Amino acid sequence: MKNFKLAVVGATGVVGRAALKVLEEKKLPISQYTLFASKRSAGSKIQFLGKEYIVKELTENSFDEGFDFAIFSAGASTAKKYAPIAAEHGCIVVDNSSAFRMDKDIPLVVPEVNPEEIKKNKGIIANPNCSTIQAVVALKPLDDKYKIKRIVYSTYQAVSGAGRDGIYDLENGIKNFKESKDINVASSDNYTLKKFPYPIFNNCLPHIDVFLDNGYTKEEMKMVNETRKILGRPNLAVTATAVRVPVLNSHSESINVEFEKDFDIKDIKDLLAKSEGITLIDDIEHEKYPIATDATGQDNVLVGRIRRDFSIPNGLNFWCVGDNIRKGAASNAIQIVSKLIEYSK
Ligand code: A2P
Repeated sequence: MKNFKLAVVGATGVVGRAALKVLEEKKLPISQYTLFASKRSAGSKIQFLGKEYIVKELTENSFDEGFDFAIFSAGASTAKKYAPIAAEHGCIVVDNSSAFRMDKDIPLVVPEVNPEEIKKNKGIIANPNCSTIQAVVALKPLDDKYKIKRIVYSTYQAVSGAGRDGIYDLENGIKNFKESKDINVASSDNYTLKKFPYPIFNNCLPHIDVFLDNGYTKEEMKMVNETRKILGRPNLAVTATAVRVPVLNSHSESINVEFEKDFDIKDIKDLLAKSEGITLIDDIEHEKYPIATDATGQDNVLVGRIRRDFSIPNGLNFWCVGDNIRKGAASNAIQIVSKLIEYSK
């Protein structure tokens, strides 16, 4: 069996480090790993697979040595510059950024939903937005059976999705509160914010990524457009409100769906319980439902609070929680690499 060479680009970031952890767990047939980051952290050391790796600076010549695959988690501008260079050198890139997701020639893949797209790649595969990944894992089996007419997303997204600076802002806010013991700590006067425009500690910010001309944020429009592309439903009615909340890790989502066909709640629960990548936690009698701290560290998407939306015909509400750094980014990318390995045999 061929042993593959894999580059991890952005290895020092939140997603890059999670990718290394998931790679340690999955034990793919990869014989050589190379870890890249920017000049800032080139030369730093990372313990991985029982040995010490020196992080290399990513440059235009980094892919000359010939990699089979690369996982990019270094933002859109780095991806736009370096992913095409990697692809030209015969490396298949799985990119976590938004750089290529809506490019019609680039597959946007969630392996439980549209694995058939993987084989269509021309050197770059896009990993979808974290909040979209967990939602479509739950929505795909429902769409196949009941045909979705409309989706309303409301998200409660963790700070880890905003990278190291996002986590820093929450930690700093907590520290500031501990020191002041003042419940009116909504002001950032006492500490510096690195990522968010307002303190994320003690606030919910209806603002993820930049605002667009249509009044939505880019994150909200990512959910709309990526859901349509992944489900192969280009005209599907989808709307979203994306909110950053003071949670360290794992995104929670309230999802309201209207179907073409009528359904039975028990059938929906049975269908979701047996679908790939989903763990059903729906036991209100014992007050059991998905929560972020339970989702963190696992790759399955947790689904619960499943109930009929009585305000419309064929309406459904449910709650969906996923580890945004694992299934929402690193694990999804590694699942794609694993499929690429499988297909290359
Ligand atoms: P670095 O550690 O050198 O800054 P996060 O979003 O969690 O902060 O992580 C971003 C990741 O992307 C980091 O590993 C960061 O490396 C990497 N990165 C950012 N800009 C570049 C670049 N121009 N080239 C390579 N890696 C980059």
